[in-house]
Amino acid sequence: MTLDIVRFIAEKRDGREHDEASLRGFVAGVASGAVPDYQVAAWCMAAYLRGLSPTETAVLTHAMALSGETVDLSSIPGVKGDKHSSGGVGDKATLVAAPLAAAAGVPVAKLSGRGLGHTGGTIDKLESIPGFRSALSIDDFVAQVRSVGLAVAAATERLVPADKRLYAIRDVTATVDSLPLIASSIMSKKIAGGADVIVLDVKVGAGAFVRELDRARELARAMIDLGRRLGRRVAAVLSNMDQPLGYAVGNALEVAEAAAALRGEGPADLVELSLELAGRLVTLATGEDAAAARRRLEGLLRDGSAAERLRRMIAAQGGDARVVDEPWRLPQAPHVREAAAPEAGYVARLDALRVAEVALSLGAGRRRKEDAVDPAVGVVLAKKVGDAVERGEPWARVHARTPEAAEAAAAALQAALALSAQPVPRPPLVHEVLEERLSPALVSDPRCLPRPDRVASGRSSPP
Ligand code: URA
Repeated sequence: MTLDIVRFIAEKRDGREHDEASLRGFVAGVASGAVPDYQVAAWCMAAYLRGLSPTETAVLTHAMALSGETVDLSSIPGVKGDKHSSGGVGDKATLVAAPLAAAAGVPVAKLSGRGLGHTGGTIDKLESIPGFRSALSIDDFVAQVRSVGLAVAAATERLVPADKRLYAIRDVTATVDSLPLIASSIMSKKIAGGADVIVLDVKVGAGAFVRELDRARELARAMIDLGRRLGRRVAAVLSNMDQPLGYAVGNALEVAEAAAALRGEGPADLVELSLELAGRLVTLATGEDAAAARRRLEGLLRDGSAAERLRRMIAAQGGDARVVDEPWRLPQAPHVREAAAPEAGYVARLDALRVAEVALSLGAGRRRKEDAVDPAVGVVLAKKVGDAVERGEPWARVHARTPEAAEAAAAALQAALALSAQPVPRPPLVHEVLEERLSPALVSDPRCLPRPDRVASGRSSPP
């Protein structure tokens, strides 16, 4: 159909609901470039102010998912899983949860992004491993999920191009912060990724995209609803991001910490969250009782099966799998400086956003898409909220490229720390878990939109 774009924008400006055909026509025009930036921007603002109904959000998501390449995992036996984080600081849970779920028999296929701004990206972390290749063709990605049970690769430019353009325009028109637009942006990429079951780690707090629990819950519900409408089982874990996850913030430092967790050496919060995320993937995929799945996963962590799965994935993607056991093989920063506690007390706050800003200033992340990241630098905390600290005791260490950078970062880091004279309770790690199981009746309901990986005819091309 030919879309009357001015009428389409006016429809949303006036708070009316789009029909499916015009919404799909709009997304096609966004992906092809036929709709110019100023009209896309006008629609984004109208959608931001007027909102989108759940049906509109589902159609938008589905149309975006189909706007480029899609991954067809249907040739791999079993129920395939994917995991997504809304972005955190020190969030290396994918590197622990994905091998755990794979070791438990759920093939995990994850297309991931690079970090931008204060949150890190899994691909940047993995690329700190010598030799690791994150750019896989879709055929190689699918083949690896089949043979290893686990692949984490970079999402190509051709995956969901409509979202890439829409997001870039939202970013410069103050329209990012709209729940239906965020939910459709995230879920379109998950739908295009081809997995049957998806676990979303929705971060809440100072270092997260969403700071309030109510809003995180609303976003999680919107994404679960999209999964239900588009034939995917989705669970959302709402987890605390007031302080970094684990102790390490920085690419190679985080890989080393994730490997330690897989070797049974903690840290406790990373292990706990990873067990929760992997457990949800297993229960969604198999219907296994949550307590039984948890026990099984703990066993797979203890007996080394999950670590072995990560080694196999790294080796399959050309990386040096010895880093899982020998972290000194990862890039090391030449200068390490301690940040010392100014007085004795209990850690009351470790501001994740400030820690991330310091890591970013050291070069661990990128402010603009084109920036290169330094794999070796970052921050390693020695304390977490609730811990006691002595005056002068190091509560963190910065890993830097130059002595000047180390000095400056150690000083800047002090603003992230707040101490209390009174004992401080440890904050909750997981606020709540939301999920909705897809009933067989719904799967076969003709009103349910078709699955993209059935609609798309196995298009694939190298990245
Ligand atoms: N992450 C996304 O992928 N899209 C959004 O709109 C927000 C966060």
